[in-house]
Amino acid sequence: MKALVLAGGSGSRLRPITYSFAKQLVPVANKPVLFYGLEAIADAGIREVGVVVGDTEAEIRAAVGDGSRFGLEVTYLRQDAPRGLAHAVLIAREFLGDDDFVMYLGDNFIVGGITELVDRFRRERPDAQIMLAKVSDPRAFGVAELDADGRVVALEEKPEHPKSDLALVGVYLFSPVVHEVVARLTPSRRGELEITDTIQGLIDRGRRVESTMVSGYWKDTGNVADMLEVNRLVLEGVEPSVAGEVDASSELIGRVVVEEGARVTGSRVVGPAVIGPGAVVRDSYIGPFTSIDRDCSVVDSEIEYSIVLRGASIDGVGRIECSLIGRQARVTPAPPVPRAHRLVLGDHSKVQISK
Ligand code: TTP
Repeated sequence: MKALVLAGGSGSRLRPITYSFAKQLVPVANKPVLFYGLEAIADAGIREVGVVVGDTEAEIRAAVGDGSRFGLEVTYLRQDAPRGLAHAVLIAREFLGDDDFVMYLGDNFIVGGITELVDRFRRERPDAQIMLAKVSDPRAFGVAELDADGRVVALEEKPEHPKSDLALVGVYLFSPVVHEVVARLTPSRRGELEITDTIQGLIDRGRRVESTMVSGYWKDTGNVADMLEVNRLVLEGVEPSVAGEVDASSELIGRVVVEEGARVTGSRVVGPAVIGPGAVVRDSYIGPFTSIDRDCSVVDSEIEYSIVLRGASIDGVGRIECSLIGRQARVTPAPPVPRAHRLVLGDHSKVQISK
């Protein structure tokens, strides 16, 4: 069995971060979200992985390399534009050959890995196996309709009127029969080759499509709120450790990781939180569910429930919450503004000015 990991796409929901950065590399507890997926694939006993890349190919390559550090052999597959999840399968045709494969969306986060799912597929050998999760607003997802026996009977991509609250999780298993369907697909209303249409095509051809409910936690980290939530969840499980320096006037409470070369002075850090290698935290408060990546600096500020990417600095700005701060970003106080209004008002204008 092979794996196909999707790490292209446009990442429009995470703009502006994704204007300059691959969304699959946004760190969760200071580790790119993509790495959790690659580790899950390796744990399931899969070695050969095709990584689909787009405009951010260079940084994905720099981060993942040849895959050996995960115990994987990675082949990069360039997609000219984000033409849909099934388009990724289309361009991977040669790489996948006649093997079964697991397709994994590189920005999805699944607690508990995929080993059980892969083992079940190997045992039962359906033509496709999908994972479902109950969601509160299915309109943002691929949605599955099941019959009374739990068989998948229909799928719809981001439906306006969903027929169930069961969303497709970003891990799918396929037998090579899928290529026959993908080769005949046409673009959907939104101009993409859809994976939901692919699975529907298998059902229409009488092929066996199985589903399992996701047992653990799952999130598509496509937007900032979900990213912060996944970060919270992972931080809750970190083991406290201090490899960096923490001075006597600082206090660490709960699950706090201070990595090598980090310096914490005159500060209070309330975990769960991680302070990356080479980061500086001075005269500040770092609150729960915060990841500060390598080489950041936080000075005379407070930050909580946030992710700060490498090399960013936050200086003298009071309190920050629920934020995602990009690489090398600079957050500083605004210069004082004179408290006066300058107006050029037309005749009969009505203006309300807050005092
Ligand atoms: P999505 O989150 O569905 O798409 P996107 O990256 O374009 O994001 P947004 O909706 O915010 O614009 O993609 C899921 C994963 O699949 C993600 O890791 C990107 C990847 N992907 C590809 O590699 N190729 C594609 O053609 C598409 C659509 C997605």
